[in-house]
Amino acid sequence: MSKVIEILRKEEKRQKTVINLIPSENYVSKNVLRALGSVFTNKYAEGKSGFRYYSGNKFTDELEDYVKELGLKVFGASSKEYGINVQPYSGSIANLAAYLSVLKSGDKILAMSLEHGGHLTHGHKVSMTGQLFSFSHYGVNTKGFIDYKDILKIAKKFRPKLIVAGATAYPREINFKKFREIADEVGALLMADVSHIAGLIVGGVHLSPIPYADIVTSTTHKTLRGPRGAIIISKHQIQKSKFNLTESIDKTVFPGLQGGPQMHTIAAMGVAFEEALQPSFKKYANQVVKNAKKLAEELKRAGFKLISGGTDNHLILVDVTSLGLLGKEAADRLEANGIIVNKNSIPFDTRKPWDPSGIRLGTPAVTTQGMKEEDMVEIAKRIAETLISKS
Ligand SMILES: Cc1ncc(COP(=O)(O)O)c(C=O)c1O
Repeated sequence: MSKVIEILRKEEKRQKTVINLIPSENYVSKNVLRALGSVFTNKYAEGKSGFRYYSGNKFTDELEDYVKELGLKVFGASSKEYGINVQPYSGSIANLAAYLSVLKSGDKILAMSLEHGGHLTHGHKVSMTGQLFSFSHYGVNTKGFIDYKDILKIAKKFRPKLIVAGATAYPREINFKKFREIADEVGALLMADVSHIAGLIVGGVHLSPIPYADIVTSTTHKTLRGPRGAIIISKHQIQKSKFNLTESIDKTVFPGLQGGPQMHTIAAMGVAFEEALQPSFKKYANQVVKNAKKLAEELKRAGFKLISGGTDNHLILVDVTSLGLLGKEAADRLEANGIIVNKNSIPFDTRKPWDPSGIRLGTPAVTTQGMKEEDMVEIAKRIAETLISKS
């Protein structure tokens, strides 16, 4: 047997036997996997529908047009006002493409800091985004919540051209309407990076960034339960100018940053969007949040300190230092006991990201497996037994 197939089988077994609480992971459907492993992996399709650099793209065009139409539909964005690009290879590329489409190198961006829940591509110094643009960062208050008045104060002083709303480790709902008001007060564009919460938005559980944001970027593989890839939705027109934002984004993605789109991934995105339009996806998104709230409640009852005291979404951030532990040690101990989480910085962390003070847990994957609130009680018990009694 091929060594790769052997490893693949081992990974399949691992995924089935662990309790996966990584909030950015999920289990895609058989049909999403089928599309990923389809013949579209054989096709080169540089360009966009109707403007390809290779022949033989009749069905590629049909596919990409259909997936784009679905992508706008799941986010409730009308094609009259919005465009969509489904080609970005990942969320990081989508964010870079969005910045480069509206800004010049050195321009000012205001985003959430990594330490307080933002992503690397929100201008961390080790990310190319932080090196190409001039970032200022906002964070959360001492209670762990975004303070919109504070963001306005920073924005008035910093005068960014673009504000980024969105996070990778923020357990509370984001108010995109308030972000829009802040952006308007300082004449900035607003970008929402909804990579983590896309499934909750599409499922109607969280406030949508549409119509507030000028640009919406998202990965498709987290709560949205699709393949690893990303999309950029944008208004055609911004700030009443003649500049066409959608066209600018298309050009930045290809040929600016990428070559041929991964059409098998785009096919799988289409399947995931079809699934997200089913009523069962609304139920799923609701259950993800119900499970996270229950897990948070039980962990608190067991003595864990949660950042912001709980959650509104699919993830929970725990400060494990109050138990005399560190994030890496806690994650390792849990893995040894079949529970997969990730170590994570917490707001005001004095430790480095490689060995931070917290762990991050989430419910998208276990909810896909059909788990409900009563299962969260059991999981919390196992986590407490692993971390509290042995610490
Ligand atoms: C908010 C946010 N934006 C962007 C990304 C980057 O996505 P990718 O890992 O696909 O590059 C992530 C991934 O964790 C994320 O959480």
